[in-house]
Amino acid sequence: MCGIVGYFGKRKASDILVDGLRRLEYRGYDSAGIACVYDGSIDVVKNPGKIRALRERVQQSPLKSIKNATVGIGHTRWATHGQPNEVNAHPHQDVSGHFAMVHNGIIENYKAIRSGLAKHGIECVSETDSEVLVQLIAFCYKGNLEEAVSEALKQVKGTYGIVVMSDHEPDKLVAARCGSPIVLGLGRNETLVASDASAIMPHTRDAVYLEDFDMAVITADGMEMFDLQRAPVNREVMAMDWDAGAAEKGEYAHFMLKEIYEQPSAIRNAIRGRLDFEMGTAVLSGLDFSPRDAAMINRVLVVGCGTSMHAGMVGEYAIEEMAGILAEVEQAAEFRYRNPIITPSDLVVAISQSGETADTLAAVREAKNKGAVVAGICNVVGSTIARETGRGVYLHAGPEIGVASTKAFTCQVSVMLMMALKIARTRRMPLNDGEVLGRWIERMPELVEKVLEQNDAIKAVAQKYAKCDNAFFIGRGYLFPVALEGALKLKEISYIHAEGYHAAELKHGPIALLQKNTPVIALLNDVPGKDKTLGNAEECKARNAPVIAVVSEGDEKIADEFSDVIVVPDCPPCITPVPTAVALQLLAYHIAAARGCEIDQPRNLAKSVTVE
Ligand code: F6R
Repeated sequence: MCGIVGYFGKRKASDILVDGLRRLEYRGYDSAGIACVYDGSIDVVKNPGKIRALRERVQQSPLKSIKNATVGIGHTRWATHGQPNEVNAHPHQDVSGHFAMVHNGIIENYKAIRSGLAKHGIECVSETDSEVLVQLIAFCYKGNLEEAVSEALKQVKGTYGIVVMSDHEPDKLVAARCGSPIVLGLGRNETLVASDASAIMPHTRDAVYLEDFDMAVITADGMEMFDLQRAPVNREVMAMDWDAGAAEKGEYAHFMLKEIYEQPSAIRNAIRGRLDFEMGTAVLSGLDFSPRDAAMINRVLVVGCGTSMHAGMVGEYAIEEMAGILAEVEQAAEFRYRNPIITPSDLVVAISQSGETADTLAAVREAKNKGAVVAGICNVVGSTIARETGRGVYLHAGPEIGVASTKAFTCQVSVMLMMALKIARTRRMPLNDGEVLGRWIERMPELVEKVLEQNDAIKAVAQKYAKCDNAFFIGRGYLFPVALEGALKLKEISYIHAEGYHAAELKHGPIALLQKNTPVIALLNDVPGKDKTLGNAEECKARNAPVIAVVSEGDEKIADEFSDVIVVPDCPPCITPVPTAVALQLLAYHIAAARGCEIDQPRNLAKSVTVE
């Protein structure tokens, strides 16, 4: 979704801002802009469309602020209120032009603030909710920028991550957050501010994450933090352990392909040091409950959205099967509003790559409020969900830039399996079974490598079906969530209408849609119920739908029955989601590539969904 970058230092601000915005492109956006302050005035350059276009305009700009300033702010906008056009793009300015601001989040009471300002003759020019905030800050200004910001923010309902500047105080940037992340990067003689660490990683490794209702005032003397009452606050400086190169595409055509290929190493990182073969268990230090505490857990409730929720479903199956306790998965967005029943013996697990998804965060807060033990499974270190859950497990998958989640999914499944193993060993799982499962988890990177070796074969199947308009994915048991995930991957990057169904559900309605150009991707690997799924695939074939069979290596008997076959390594049912998902990621990728789609930035999508 929207992205923020700010720079205060000694280097040319416009270069750093545009480069930072380029690094945030993956989040999804439809317009972009920068504002710089120099020699007593602020200049803004912004446009709908891509950063490429913004970069050209900035490079050709005769404006002296854009050419010379060493202080500035930038933004990529993902439209919520109003079309993606130049007026609605950020940075926004107040009517006098003395203030400029970038904003992520939603000002819920913007209409009331706008009418209040209108009574004082202040008319907004854009359709956005954001512009009212900079107008309000200017209205509250009495000679001190941070005072004006805190006064204005006290009147705001909703969420915000903002950076503000004014030519009245050109040697200052003010940032603030409530519900929308802001990270400050502390460099040598410079301070950066962003909504996402990837924008500042090339410049510094020392990061400070603002908490809700924090404000940061950045000047040549460094950075100070306050709450909205202007009382000083202290936040820990954290070291960002991601390598800046990890956020570059390198030799790959797309980030998504790079991240698909990174999965063996990402999974190795996710499981490194976390398997104890002697005790046949997993060591997840972030889940700091003792075996006795673990034995008290009566139910595990996993909340998440999209791909993360699909990984949670694999976890649900594994926890019930191995630990013999009730496990449920719920869409995070539903959890909060349906007043769920939570008891103190429930473990609520929030699963989120970004750690910033608004619905998942809201579910975390609701679960905490109801007294549950809450844990997070996140990739982004220091993200809001990671911090608010307090305990949990990081994926260590490295930055995921492609909007379509790939390596996060397989790492999430790896972590969920280790969590299931840890809980199961405090219950009914014998040591020997625990060790066997640990060994299979350890082998997952190798299984993924075997799937990646089949890239050309999968690409050939993909090219055959690249022109279809609809597709179905079917699976059972551990492969049901993978069918959902395969369909999600295909639809989001290729724009083919794709649905994932439990194999048995197809004949309860969707089978009516099958035609000769509607492929059915049938997950026929060796899991319980395979024969029944085989029967369902035959039903599809009998209705002239082409079936792409995903089968376990060595299962030639099935392979002979279908014209298109993708082979994945044979492994126990709970492990199958990982290699199978990788095969489906490649299938979706090659179909989208053959259709000429913008794979890393699919239309309308955002990497981190920070609005409910
Ligand atoms: C799909 C995808 C999304 C995310 C969802 C949750 O490829 O990436 O469905 O999984 O928006 O995001 P996180 O995991 O950041 O909470």
